[in-house]
Amino acid sequence: MVAEGEIPLANVIFRGIIMTYNIALLKGDGIGPEIVDSAVKVLEAVGKKFGHTFNFTPYLIGGAAIDATGKPLPEETVKGCLASDSVLLGAVGGPKWDTLPGNMRPEKALLGIREAMGLFTNLRPAKLYPALKDDCPLRADIVANGFDILIVRELTGGIYFGERGMREGKYGEEAYDTECYSRMEIERICKVAYESAKKRNGKLTSIDKANVLDSSRLWRKIVHEMEKDYPDVEVADMLVDNAAMQLVRNPAQFDVIVTTNMFGDILSDEASQITGSIGMLPSASLGNTTVGLYEPIHGSAPDIAGKNIANPIATILSGAMMLLYSFSLKEESDAIVAAVDKVLNAGYRTADLAHGGEYLTTKEVTEKIIENL
Ligand code: IPM
Ligand code: MN
Repeated sequence: MVAEGEIPLANVIFRGIIMTYNIALLKGDGIGPEIVDSAVKVLEAVGKKFGHTFNFTPYLIGGAAIDATGKPLPEETVKGCLASDSVLLGAVGGPKWDTLPGNMRPEKALLGIREAMGLFTNLRPAKLYPALKDDCPLRADIVANGFDILIVRELTGGIYFGERGMREGKYGEEAYDTECYSRMEIERICKVAYESAKKRNGKLTSIDKANVLDSSRLWRKIVHEMEKDYPDVEVADMLVDNAAMQLVRNPAQFDVIVTTNMFGDILSDEASQITGSIGMLPSASLGNTTVGLYEPIHGSAPDIAGKNIANPIATILSGAMMLLYSFSLKEESDAIVAAVDKVLNAGYRTADLAHGGEYLTTKEVTEKIIENL
């Protein structure tokens, strides 16, 4: 990602000339192909409207890649993503591959591609759409004023990437995973979070488990060392167990949250549910360049795969994030967000938000969003 104030070099030189963007598609498993197809249709419609060409090249990942090549993350996929301007991903995994050993699982591919592309930042916005207020499981008075949270999750460190293994221990067979964070990893993610808070409402909550973990104590120390560089940002620490509670007690208290890989994984699922549906939440994974990976925060939902009922909005909004963060196409990105708003305000719902009532299929809601662009 490009820090505030810096302009991506490619854009300085080519802005106005380059109208073609190469996007790698990692459709993956379960509902992945359906929701990615929806986002592609929306991006194509945006391209037509604003005069850009988006070239899409599909690559295999996850279970689909295991079935075709024996590996969850083929070399060709990594190369293709690294050579693209950006990557759009659906979801990976499913019961068919659940019994494979850890390093052969579809999920390993997701970690592998994040690492290979150096995507240490995961932005997960969670906001309550006014149209979905009644879908929020929290009491009406709690969400009367809505909420708009940006979770900044560290994505290439911590327990996901720490030393792990199996061994003989005191009680026989045991397995272990370790949480380790370096100063460099903490500083770079906190910088993103501080910069984000500065551009938003100036409030940053750093979530850790510093009453137990050394890695959290280093995290907390560094958060406060950086405080002086951001006089406009009010920063507070919160323990993760308390944060899990505060998110449902009073979500409006949060602006930007910064946290570790695993805490961010867990808290973002919690945050998604209070927006009405996990089918609504997009994400952007970013590193030091403009090449990012964009994906919904939800999984592959194998139970509804191929039924044309999945909610494609999280993936469509991930496409909007791509336009903004990778291509600096703000107007185009805003157009997608506005179209989604209009469709929701008009009362259209996918099955996950229909509460057993009438709903639009994946394809129908995609068409509605395109009509409203
Ligand atoms: C997510 C997912 C992944 C994660 C899994 C599938 C590896 O849950 O993107 O939130 O834990 O990062
Ligand atoms: Mn997750």
